[in-house]
Amino acid sequence: MTQIGGFIEATRRPGVLGVHSLDHFSMTVPDLDKAKTFYESFGLEVRPEGRGLALHTHGHPHRWGLLSEGPRKKLHYLSFGAFEDDLPRFRDHLNACNVERLPPPPGFESNGLWFRNYDGVPIEIRVAEKSSPNAKSVFTTTSVGPAQRGAISRSAAPFTRPRRLAHVLLYTTDVTRAIEYYTKVLGLRLSDSSEGNVAFMHGVHGSDHHMLALGRSSAPGLHHCSWDVGSVQDVGLGAMQMANKGFVDGWGTGRHVLGSNYFHYVRDPWGSYAEYSADIDYIPSNADWEAADHPGEDSFYLWGPTPPPDFVRNYEAEA
Ligand SMILES: [Fe+2]
Repeated sequence: MTQIGGFIEATRRPGVLGVHSLDHFSMTVPDLDKAKTFYESFGLEVRPEGRGLALHTHGHPHRWGLLSEGPRKKLHYLSFGAFEDDLPRFRDHLNACNVERLPPPPGFESNGLWFRNYDGVPIEIRVAEKSSPNAKSVFTTTSVGPAQRGAISRSAAPFTRPRRLAHVLLYTTDVTRAIEYYTKVLGLRLSDSSEGNVAFMHGVHGSDHHMLALGRSSAPGLHHCSWDVGSVQDVGLGAMQMANKGFVDGWGTGRHVLGSNYFHYVRDPWGSYAEYSADIDYIPSNADWEAADHPGEDSFYLWGPTPPPDFVRNYEAEA
């Protein structure tokens, strides 16, 4: 489970420099009211912060996302969390990698180190509590015995509330270069990839199979943010609660091969997605995961409906 209130100690691989978490993502959207409706319907807690909105999960202290208003939906920056004693090491490491440091974006306070990746996307490494999970997240499945009802009435269906941000998938102009970059600069490790089209990276201090996923495009962008829930039932009920609010487009329900998670993607008002995800593979800090490259048709999804034709269309590249 995610570390809450110090009950679960953050896992750490000794002697290795690497970010421990995807701390939060930031994007601009053309209509904050629409965004609030979308993410509240999705089951998040949306709070005003500055002139924008902060995305929280109910009952969890961490802020997972920041939305600000802009002329169009656009990935703004990614922030990664690091252990406090690693920050000076990252400072030296960035210098050794000839990474040019930047001031924080205007209006964003930060204790972190800022720079741009090869696609021009601002990246921050900040001191933060480890918000990536320290063990495999709890996943439940229930079955009743004979002479008992297994399902509840529809009117009694609970509202799905994700527990935490799981990962984001960024569009990138070069997946191979992205793997090299995030390995070298941030200390992420490759989990799996597919034919130069997609790659999944985990944190060395213990994280899900991917805290960062990368997909090939002509320009950078945010394809989806993914949120962890505790069961296939939660995934399905989440999809239903979104459909009941009018957010019927998306892809799912299904199961991925790479990462193994059950998924349902709901299309947001700007052509990107929010994903309900359950039972994703976990890579502990003391495990050496063997990365592999997989044929696309054999690894995109194990089962589920055919994805919509524009599922991997980068609308940020066309704006
Ligand atoms: Fe995902």
